Amino acid sequence: MKGIILAGGSGTRLYPLTKAISKQMLPIYDKPMIYYPLSVLMLAGIKEVLIISTPRDIAAFEELLGDGSDYGMKFEYIIQEKPNGLAEAFVLGEEFIGKSSVALVLGDNIFYGSDFGNRLQKVAASENGCTIFGCYVKDPRAYGVVEVDENRNAISIEEKPDMPKSSLAIPGLYFFSNEVIAVAKNVSPSIRGEKEITSVIEHFLNKRTLKVEILGRGLAWLDTGTHESLLDASNFVEAIQKRQGLYIACIEEIAYRRGYISKEKLLKLAKPLLKTEYGKYLEDISKQPQSKVFLEV
Ligand code: TTP
Repeated sequence: MKGIILAGGSGTRLYPLTKAISKQMLPIYDKPMIYYPLSVLMLAGIKEVLIISTPRDIAAFEELLGDGSDYGMKFEYIIQEKPNGLAEAFVLGEEFIGKSSVALVLGDNIFYGSDFGNRLQKVAASENGCTIFGCYVKDPRAYGVVEVDENRNAISIEEKPDMPKSSLAIPGLYFFSNEVIAVAKNVSPSIRGEKEITSVIEHFLNKRTLKVEILGRGLAWLDTGTHESLLDASNFVEAIQKRQGLYIACIEEIAYRRGYISKEKLLKLAKPLLKTEYGKYLEDISKQPQSKVFLEV
């Protein structure tokens, strides 16, 4: 399975912060926002990642993350000329995806919870249809909303409904079989002029190949599109990291514990960061056994 991070968009709800830089480059406490969705793909076991961003921002992401070899991975980059919608990712990414199945994560979504990596790996192992997630939120009206029956089969999907049929919002993380390329190509732009991900998911719903994984109390899903939610996300990450001493979305740690990079490589990555707690954390990690068990405590 391959992975795509969609890190374009216009970020207008964060103006003036995002007038000159990408939203996904903004800090969430101690690391750039894009580390969080990248860590999700890594936890799912994905090693080949395509990063999609704007003509203005793509070079900065390339400078930040490189070709992926620092993390024992492979990164590619591609430009989305205009924010034409989430489903355009599969059209732009056609060559990258090849014959693989593919996961799409939005660059401004943060997930954190116990056993999340194991759950993601199970989802990634299934090559059929589409898997989305359903997250309980107090007010789902700003999101795509999924309605499920008692067996957790999807019944309906609605984009930003005025009267939601359930409290389950669909977060920005989707797993698809290779069929998604053809489906996305056939999606016509909506009234707002975007190729909507909801239209793609609806195709799988109609074919009865849509699965919904409910993310309940043990999992936090945060999005970061407004000033308030951006600060909330930073405060959340700070609180967890300070209290537990376990880092959220530390991509170097995941690469090390998954055995993608050696202890020597981890120490090399830590070196320029040693003035920070982040760098010291990497040094501490290098003294611990290289076991992925620690990622799921
Ligand atoms: P949104 O938050 O829906 O849009 P935005 O980031 O442009 O922000 P705003 O509403 O403040 O103008 O986008 C969700 C995520 O998807 C975000 O990470 C940006 C990304 N995105 C793209 O990369 N390309 C697109 O065409 C769209 C619509 C979004």
